[in-house]
Amino acid sequence: MRVSDFYDRHPISEQQVLAAARRRRRGVAGPLTAEDLFEFDQDHYGGLDAVDALARRAGITATARVLDVCAGLGGPARFLASRRGCRVVGLELNPGRAAGAARLTRRVGLSDRVTVVRGDAAALPFAGATFDACLSQEGLLHIEDKAAVLAGCHRVLVPGGRLAFTDWIARPRLADRERDRLWEWMAATGLQTLDGYRRLLGHAGFTSVEAEDLSAEWRPLLRARLDMYRHGRDDIVARLGEAWYREFDALYTFFVDLVEAGKLGGGRFSGTR
Ligand SMILES: C[S@@+](CC[C@H](N)C(=O)[O-])C[C@H]1O[C@@H](n2cnc3c(N)ncnc32)[C@H](O)[C@@H]1O
Repeated sequence: MRVSDFYDRHPISEQQVLAAARRRRRGVAGPLTAEDLFEFDQDHYGGLDAVDALARRAGITATARVLDVCAGLGGPARFLASRRGCRVVGLELNPGRAAGAARLTRRVGLSDRVTVVRGDAAALPFAGATFDACLSQEGLLHIEDKAAVLAGCHRVLVPGGRLAFTDWIARPRLADRERDRLWEWMAATGLQTLDGYRRLLGHAGFTSVEAEDLSAEWRPLLRARLDMYRHGRDDIVARLGEAWYREFDALYTFFVDLVEAGKLGGGRFSGTR
C-alpha cells in the first residue's frame, strides 16, 4: 500500500479533529485554541506525554528551532510551539495532511510559530545546520531508507543539536509474512530492531546515542487506540464507508495482536549531532 493512500483514508483527519474539538467545547464562547485540539490531533502513541518525553531528550527550549519530521496534522508541532514557545517546522509528505496541518495551525492562531512544509523525510528540503532539534513520532516506519532520514537529520542539525524520535521496532519473532502484511495493509516498511536503529544512528554520525524499549508501555496504549477507533465506528463509516471500516478494523486488530504477542514493539531513540 502506498503511504499516501493509507493516510488519505485514515480515521484521524482534519475534519474529525475539528468536529471532536467543537463537540468538546460546546457552549464555550470564543475561538478554537490549540489546547482544544490536543486531545484529538496527536497521531502517535502516548499523547502529549510522549511529545514531552521527546522534547526533554532533545533539550527543546523557547529559543529552539525545531523540525518535526513526518508531522501529520501538526499536533505535536502546535503542542511544542504553544507550550514551550519554540518555532517548529513540520515536514509532511501527504498533501491532504500537510494542507490540513497548515489550516488547523492558522485556525488556532499559531502560524507565526509553526510552519508546514510538504516534502519527503528521506530528502529533507532544508539547508545544513538549520535546526537545533529534530523530532519524529511513528513516521519512520513508513520509510524504507531510514539511513537517508537519519543522515538528513544529522545534516540539518547544528553541531550539538539533538535528534529524538519514536518508532515501531521489529522483535525477533516477527515473521516475514507478517512483515509483508504490515506493508500491504499499513504501508510499514523496512522495520528496524532496537539495535538496528542504534547502529544506523551511529553510522549517520550521531553520538551519545540512546535506545529505549517502549514495547511494554505501548501494549495497553495500542489496545486503547483500537478501542477508540471502534468507539468512533459511526463517524468512520459515515466518512469512509462500511467496507473500509471493516478492513481498517481487521488490519488494526492484526497490528495490535502482533504487539501483544511481543513480535512488534516501540522504541525511543536520541542522539547528538
Ligand atoms: C502516524 S502519522 C504521525 C503524525 C505525527 N508525527 C503525529 O504524531 O501526530 C505518520 C505520518 O508520517 C507521514 N509520512 C510518511 N512517510 C513520510 C515521508 N517519507 N516524509 C514525510 N512524511 C511522511 C504520513 O503521511 C503521516 O502523516
